[in-house]
Amino acid sequence: MPLRGVRVYLTREEEKILEGEMGEAARIAMEAVVRVGESLGAERLVEISRAHISGISYKNVGEAGRQFIERLRRLGAKFSVPTTVNPAGMDTCKWRSMGVGEEFARAQLALLEDLEAMGAELILTCTPYFYVELRAGDHLAWSESNAVLYANSVIGARTNREGGPLALLEGLVGRAPYVGLHLDEEREPTVLVDVRGARGIDPALVGYAVGYYVEKGIPYVTAGSFKSALESRLKEFLAAVGASSSIGLVLIEGISPEAPREPPLGTEKISLDEEEVREVKERISTPLGEPDAILLGCPHLSAGELLEIHEALAGRRLRRRLVLFTSRKAIAERMREVRALEALGVEVYADTCMVVSELSKMGIYTAVVDSAKAAYYLSSQGYEVELVSREEALRMLIGNNV
Ligand code: F3S
Repeated sequence: MPLRGVRVYLTREEEKILEGEMGEAARIAMEAVVRVGESLGAERLVEISRAHISGISYKNVGEAGRQFIERLRRLGAKFSVPTTVNPAGMDTCKWRSMGVGEEFARAQLALLEDLEAMGAELILTCTPYFYVELRAGDHLAWSESNAVLYANSVIGARTNREGGPLALLEGLVGRAPYVGLHLDEEREPTVLVDVRGARGIDPALVGYAVGYYVEKGIPYVTAGSFKSALESRLKEFLAAVGASSSIGLVLIEGISPEAPREPPLGTEKISLDEEEVREVKERISTPLGEPDAILLGCPHLSAGELLEIHEALAGRRLRRRLVLFTSRKAIAERMREVRALEALGVEVYADTCMVVSELSKMGIYTAVVDSAKAAYYLSSQGYEVELVSREEALRMLIGNNV
């Protein structure tokens, strides 16, 4: 049945999908996408070139989420654009060593199998931007805030911060409502944020402060001599912005393809200094004497970071438990270094992350992290967390000679 009174303009092909000509699953998906478009005031839909689905950890979606995906599969759902998937609730190979039970593992694997049968690529990472081809101007339906921020701010692609289920449905029909960050006029800077005064601080924490003080809109960030530090921790900076705000695009001077050369005139201006940034830190970080573990990899460690961590730790005796979270693709690129790290006692997990897995099952209740996003989410789950820079974390592992 066609939707009555649809106000979103639909092409003939979109109407056919809505009328069920492409199957029931596609009809359900199109109906949901159109309804969301209506509620957001979209005049039409836009064709997307990719989708990325988050929220597929069985820990988060539970039985209801798994059954929803299973139902779509049974109805013949197929992704109509290349679709990738965020981390799951466990390492799909080493889940036993994470303390995961049989029942959870069975349900998680079944959910992943359903997504794969629908045509998704199970990269199981929140850093899809390292592994798929993206171009400036591409329209996407991505639902992982750090990936959304990276795609918009660093690549110049266009996606709103979609919820996991909506990105899934958009991937099925290959369309998203043409609103928000898909539109030129919604990508203009709304506030100028000068972070030069915070240049001695880890960019992950600075990102958290940017989100915390700005909350929404499009910040234009001037970094000055802080730019290269920011560049080296871009994904942690952007992930932190996403954790403390609803922002989906940051225009970073000299980095973002769409950032104007000169700071925009006439916009509100915020300057962040060390004190303001440190104030924010107290909200998500508690000094810990002896943490259960040091956790790195939020967002997932890249192949390059695995190499750097290996270089810093090779030949050392580690003073503390270290757990790394990364993607299977990064491990494949750095297999030799990963094996060497494991020989030092480092635990390396793929397909999952410190936030969407169950750390308590691994005997971890207190942790040092180098990601403000992880600090925020783990604190809200009841873990005691201390946020430090990557350098400090490595120093805690081996002493002062980092
Ligand atoms: Fe990625 Fe998990 Fe952090 S999905 S951004 S590692 S919370």
